[in-house]
Amino acid sequence: MRVVFVWLHVVAAAVWLGSLIFLALGVLPVLRRPEYRTVYGPIVHAVGLRSRWIGWVALAVLVLTGLHNLAALGFGWSHVVSGQIWAGPFGRALAWKLVWVGVIIGLNLVHDLWLGPRVTRRWQANPDDPSLRWVRRAAAWLGRLVVLLTLVVFYLAVMLRRGGLS
Ligand code: HEM
Repeated sequence: MRVVFVWLHVVAAAVWLGSLIFLALGVLPVLRRPEYRTVYGPIVHAVGLRSRWIGWVALAVLVLTGLHNLAALGFGWSHVVSGQIWAGPFGRALAWKLVWVGVIIGLNLVHDLWLGPRVTRRWQANPDDPSLRWVRRAAAWLGRLVVLLTLVVFYLAVMLRRGGLS
């Protein structure tokens, strides 16, 4: 059973990173071509709404299965309270991993609750609004940052059970 939870964790991690990379390297560059200028806004909006729930489900599965994986490795609440869980190479890798997971969740919230609705509102009011450019650019950079941080989390995840961080 333990291996099923690790499998689910890895599948959720693949869905999370895979959907981000497909959006950044597959969907958005195609939609930025001049011939798709008129449909760029509505399609990015629709794809964004659809990929949003995929991302949040993947993150929820990662957190839940991650907690289960920790329990299966013998860690409980008492280890968190005593600080024992953060000790040693495994603890250090775990601590950094969770810090970056927290930052990723925070940036995702900023993207979905603040930046995304701002782009949609401005675009619905006036699709040619020049200020749309910087909000879109900010959203794109936020996306790139999340991809980068997820790659860091993957590295720390791989290190967890391979000697941790010294
Ligand atoms: C963006 C979020 C996350 C990503 C991308 C991610 C990714 C991964 C990956 C790829 C592995 C497999 C590493 C390997 O077997 O070599 C892994 C393992 C693990 N992850 Fe995560 N993870 C995330 C969040 C979490 C969270 C929130 C926790 C804890 C609350 C957690 C705890 C663990 C543990 C304990 C393992 C080791 C499982 C084992 O082999 O027994 N992860 N993670």
